[in-house]
Amino acid sequence: MVPKTGDTKTNTMIFSLKNQPGGLARALKVFQAKRVNVVHIESRPSMRRNSQYEIMVDVQCNDNQMAELIASLQSEVAAVKLAEFDMGVDPPMSPAIGGSFDNFDEMVCWFPRRISELDQSQRVLLYGADLDADHPGFKDPVYRKRRKYFTDVAMAYRYGEPIPRVEYTAEEIKTWGVIFSELHKLYPVYACKEYLENWPQLVKYCGYRVDNIPQQADLNNFLKRKTGFTIRPVAGYLSPRDFLAGLAFRVFHCTQYIRHSSDPFYTPEPDCCHELLGHMPLLANPSFAQFSQEIGLASLGATDEEVGKLATCYFFTVEFGLCKENDTLKVYGAGLLSSIAELRHALSDEAKPKIKPFDPEVTAHEECIITSFQNAYYYSESFEESKEKMRKFAATIKRPFGIRYNPYTQSVEVLSSAEKIVGLMSELRGDLCIVHNV
Ligand SMILES: [Fe+2]
Repeated sequence: MVPKTGDTKTNTMIFSLKNQPGGLARALKVFQAKRVNVVHIESRPSMRRNSQYEIMVDVQCNDNQMAELIASLQSEVAAVKLAEFDMGVDPPMSPAIGGSFDNFDEMVCWFPRRISELDQSQRVLLYGADLDADHPGFKDPVYRKRRKYFTDVAMAYRYGEPIPRVEYTAEEIKTWGVIFSELHKLYPVYACKEYLENWPQLVKYCGYRVDNIPQQADLNNFLKRKTGFTIRPVAGYLSPRDFLAGLAFRVFHCTQYIRHSSDPFYTPEPDCCHELLGHMPLLANPSFAQFSQEIGLASLGATDEEVGKLATCYFFTVEFGLCKENDTLKVYGAGLLSSIAELRHALSDEAKPKIKPFDPEVTAHEECIITSFQNAYYYSESFEESKEKMRKFAATIKRPFGIRYNPYTQSVEVLSSAEKIVGLMSELRGDLCIVHNV
């Protein structure tokens, strides 16, 4: 039993590994057995011994626990406190760590590592095939049958398949047309310039017209060329974890059905009007696309509480965000850009007292409101500024590994070994060399 004396704080230790397969995994099991929380782990080339690597681990414990931990670790590794290490005490000699992270996957929760694994991240919270009694289409058997069709298409979809083209009915196109024409009048006044600048291309390549509902297949091809984003049909409102996981791979989950025709200006859930009019124009903007992906990457392997905070930040930026343009507030949030009433409201005098600068630490605790106007709106000076703030916020999420998206293999690399980190450094060096030469 570890005595619970002294204050818990972040302690850092450094160790080298014995040259045995699974060495690090066994060492980390000691932390687990001692119930000591590992908040950060990294490997680095030794500054004292060429071709050697050292593992640095931050743990949360008191001094007594730290002493016991180091004593217990002696059977697996030779560890020293960072303070001692800095005073010149070396961990004993150890060959390079090699494949010592072979059990790493068992130590973290599952999340998709390859883009194809998004097939297993499709937890629809609502509404899918079943509509609630308060849904405008609940009592309409024709609408419900149609929703069943869209649900079946989305649930059967697998990565790499072409997105099925939809033959929209005359009634569906009419609903789209009503919303399209009203919003189209508002965009020149309310929408940010990054949104507006992609419209001509959406008209040209994707059929954005009052009498045509654009096809996801065309948007998929368009976005792929513009920012590398792709689209995946989805049956309804996905769980925040699964939705954010898609963004990590530059995959946007997109509904294909349209709201009920009885009330074109209201929908309790995302529909194709929201996706096509709200989201698509900005996903064609490189800076915005990167912002979206970085929120997604921060969510992989994060706790439920952290995913909740990231999802709230996403909600008040990508869905309801405002930005400044020459000292004038404009809208970039898709939830606003697809809602006539709230778009007008968000920039009205009435909403002015509710508008605050985006600050992830504060914004993450705001209440997300689905059925009426928000209690607050958050603005950024630019997407670059939002990105910087989100990066700082994401860095506060403690994961015992780093994450990096590899666009060549469309997979997420868990930076869990010195080899991988060295490989990444070599790739970055190539990019930095290009920048330097320019
Ligand atoms: Fe949305």
